[in-house]
Amino acid sequence: MFYNAYKYHNYAKGMRFIMDNRPIGMFDSGVGGLTVYKEIRKKFPNENIIYLGDTKSFPYGSKSKENIIDLTKKGIEFLIKKDVKAIIIACGTATSQALDVIKDLYPIPIIGIIEPTARYIAEKTEISKIGIVATAGTIRSNGWANALLNYKPNLNIINKSCPLLAPMAEEGWTDNEIAKLTVHEYMRGLQDIDALILGCTHYPLFTNFFKNETRENTEIINTGTIIADYLKTMLGDKLLNSSESARGNTEIFLTDTECNFTSIAQKLLEKNTINVNKAVMD
Ligand code: DGL
Repeated sequence: MFYNAYKYHNYAKGMRFIMDNRPIGMFDSGVGGLTVYKEIRKKFPNENIIYLGDTKSFPYGSKSKENIIDLTKKGIEFLIKKDVKAIIIACGTATSQALDVIKDLYPIPIIGIIEPTARYIAEKTEISKIGIVATAGTIRSNGWANALLNYKPNLNIINKSCPLLAPMAEEGWTDNEIAKLTVHEYMRGLQDIDALILGCTHYPLFTNFFKNETRENTEIINTGTIIADYLKTMLGDKLLNSSESARGNTEIFLTDTECNFTSIAQKLLEKNTINVNKAVMD
């Protein structure tokens, strides 16, 4: 796939615009990051996107911090070789365990899902008690709680790790009785909250079950929508927007293609066909 790798200037009505048609890179351990991709694609129909799912190393949630840092670096380096202009780590586990360590090692902006969401919550005065559901690694890292308390020191936070949910999502078990009961079990003690952060990008696939477990006015926070808003500002600030006339292309790479990725992606993105490529990592 050919991308215009260079910024070019466009003069119109005496104004100068700088455009950059290089793709945006996205990274997750599997299908979860597609919940973020979906929101980004909605907001940026003209951006090219390269999505990498590290299905060979799934799940990330049960791995050590060292391992997650290593895998995240490999994913980022794969995307940088594809000449991406920015990277979204569409994975709570990689964001919470690796982003701080690696973000300054590379010459392009790298965005995770936690900081933009913490800023969003900081603005919401009605949120004083919040639940966070995420993988075991994410909860252990305290990444969400630290970021939230940084903006709202008095926030009442309840953490809950839900280690079964991401593997169930990779299996396509997101709308059956087992998924419903599993969410119910994990949500014990989390009913009376103002907001619930779906702190793992696989979890929006269970949104309806999470909704059923909370009060009607509890805000269920899907990080994808927040990241899409954040990206809009970031691309504008850094003069990285692609030309508006372009139609965005998506390329998906997986480190192992023996998985249910395609069928889950078809359902989530409401598409008849999804093409995936085998990612060859160094
Ligand atoms: N989607 C991921 C997250 O947001 C990873 C789940 C996993 O690989 O365990 O945490």
